[in-house]
Amino acid sequence: MTETNKAAQPAAAGATASSNGGGQAEELLKVTNLKMYFPITSGLLFQRKVADVKAVDGISFTVRRGETLGLVGESGCGKSTTARAILQLYRPTAGSVLFEGNELTKLKGGELRRMRRRMQMIFQDPYGSMNPRMTIEAALTEPMVIQGIGHSSRERRDRAAALLEEVGLEAAHLRRYPHEFSGGQRQRICIARALAVEPEFLICDESVSALDVSVQAQVLNLLKRLQEKHHLTYIFISHDLSVVKFMADMIAVMKDGRIVEFGPSDTIYAHPRTEYTRQLIAAVPKDDLEHIRQRQAARLAARAQRLSA
Ligand SMILES: Nc1ncnc2c1ncn2[C@@H]1O[C@H](COP(=O)(O)OP(=O)(O)OP(=O)(O)O)[C@@H](O)[C@H]1O
Ligand SMILES: [Mg+2]
Repeated sequence: MTETNKAAQPAAAGATASSNGGGQAEELLKVTNLKMYFPITSGLLFQRKVADVKAVDGISFTVRRGETLGLVGESGCGKSTTARAILQLYRPTAGSVLFEGNELTKLKGGELRRMRRRMQMIFQDPYGSMNPRMTIEAALTEPMVIQGIGHSSRERRDRAAALLEEVGLEAAHLRRYPHEFSGGQRQRICIARALAVEPEFLICDESVSALDVSVQAQVLNLLKRLQEKHHLTYIFISHDLSVVKFMADMIAVMKDGRIVEFGPSDTIYAHPRTEYTRQLIAAVPKDDLEHIRQRQAARLAARAQRLSA
């Protein structure tokens, strides 16, 4: 663990507790000293390892149930590798990943599959992660079949229709194909597919980065609504600090495979401790921020009005 990382931990723990009304929320994910190294090999006949790419180099953090951890940092700093190492899509070089107290790095086969049902990932490019020849119904019911959800194809179809409505689309869309939708709609379908297996934990990796600003805001608001409704826990990854701030309770700033700052998102944003974080903030287009702030304020006002009606 680095000095910066060590220093970050107590602040992180205290801040997490206060953002959850005195630390009542349970720790869902605990990552300790996670490392993911990729070997660099050389040689014509016999490949031998000459060095490692230290994509993730000893990071530690916790995420409490119902909370969002934002992971932010420049391209290549190790955000996606962290996500994959948590979900065991890559087997970490070292470290521990506890999910509800279960050590994921030690799980294999069926045990890991059962645990994966509870953890889903949403990627940047919805088109790339969908099979163009599969109808939306097939795309949504496939994970249910794999995980044994629903007793009949009828039940799974009804559930798929309900999921589509939940993400703002229509049951009639079940018969269509991915190319018939816009980027934002496709991302909504990916969210519905992730929810199909009733997960508790979602990792969104640059999930709105390919969308334009107004569509981005709609999808971010959808993710927030779903989080509230299903009591989901998120890791939200983006190179865009304004998007991360909008979504996250806590923020981890990554650089060269390490966490260089960790704390409540407001604090990180208002009082960045490193020049690197200051530069990430400076890179945020101010218009986008203002856009998101206004939308957030309007949403809060509408909710307050609904509650008082
Ligand atoms: N499978 C792999 N084999 C070798 N090196 C890899 C592999 N995956 C990632 N890397 C390297 O690890 C580092 C971190 O990559 P990663 O994709 O995690 O970054 P990132 O923060 O997600 O970047 P971006 O914002 O561009 O998505 C990079 O130097 C990358 O080249
Ligand atoms: Mg990435």
